[in-house]
Amino acid sequence: MTPFKMHGTHILSTGSAVPDICISNDLLSNIIDTSDTWISTRTGIKERRILDNNQSIIDLARIASDEALIKGLIKAEDLDLILFATSTPNDLFGSASQLQKSLGATKAAAFDITAACSGFVIGLIVAQQFIQTGTYKNILIVGADTLSQWVDWSDRTTCILFGDGAGAAILQPSRQNDLMSFELNTDGSESHQLSIQHQENSSSIDYKNLNFSAQKISKYKYLTMNGKEVYKFAVSKVPESINKCLQTSQLKTNQITWLLLHQANQRILDTVSQKLQIPTEKVLSNIQCYGNTSAASIPIALNEAFNTGHICHKDIIAIAGFGAGLTWGSILIQWNAIE
Ligand code: COA
Repeated sequence: MTPFKMHGTHILSTGSAVPDICISNDLLSNIIDTSDTWISTRTGIKERRILDNNQSIIDLARIASDEALIKGLIKAEDLDLILFATSTPNDLFGSASQLQKSLGATKAAAFDITAACSGFVIGLIVAQQFIQTGTYKNILIVGADTLSQWVDWSDRTTCILFGDGAGAAILQPSRQNDLMSFELNTDGSESHQLSIQHQENSSSIDYKNLNFSAQKISKYKYLTMNGKEVYKFAVSKVPESINKCLQTSQLKTNQITWLLLHQANQRILDTVSQKLQIPTEKVLSNIQCYGNTSAASIPIALNEAFNTGHICHKDIIAIAGFGAGLTWGSILIQWNAIE
């Protein structure tokens, strides 16, 4: 029997995209009872990007993916797998196949990962399993969400937080391993704290002769959130999760070069970094420009950090995603510029 060989995983390239329409806090305060001061001090957000009717989540995902493909010198036809992390798909059966078609990635298997703001971290980990085992060579992971279509724009407690966007990364096997350790969690008993639920009993179809009635669900409610509980969850669970990863990799907090948290709220970023005793200058943040873009937030920030030259050879990046589910998890990366 051929001995089973484990491969290392390399982050080859990244990409990102946001819509053109920019909604500032001042603009929002014209339609709801809020202010730039309230939003900025409570969340760190100054503006967010919103998709218009002429663009879809697939268009955004396509632009982000194209950037990653071009930078990685990979042709779409050479992709083996596309993982599309989104909770706002075009099609409830999954949107990954639409992205596969748009890219012309004819050889790639493609499926969705529904895990809200943890989606991209989960995508990285899933991709790593396929690479480690030698199953696939070129994997595209996209995190994209358009929560602007699911928030109630008259609800000031939620609509101020979210924006739309997409981010992508291509993973390949390599001799050195960029993905050092990971840690994942779910607490379904708290799922009600942040959710988009379907309308109950929107109508039901009675199949009298067959002795059952089926619920016909055609509508979903707006996003609902218990902000205080979600805040407490994030600042308690995320440091724990990162510490577990550090332990697994036998690293100390001061060895982290960059802390890249899901961009939910600047106060969450500040509290988590303080708890971990990671100085502010090591915390990657772009929340003021985009708000919370759910599954897209981590890959957008990662791509910007690569594009601006912040991430260098051998840097250690601690990444954590958290959100609806409730789900949370971390991944430690030591990025190797050259294989
Ligand atoms: N503008 C002005 N006032 C607002 C407001 C807004 N956009 N939203 C709420 N308020 C008001 C409330 O009505 C309340 O008024 P009251 O005291 O008269 O009742 C007051 O501000 C305080 O509201 P509260 O909900 O207690 O604020 P908060 O300090 O908890 O901050 C969040 C609210 C949402 C910013 C905060 O809870 C948070 O960031 N939670 C985490 C959310 C998150 O990151 N979710 C995604 C995770 S993936």
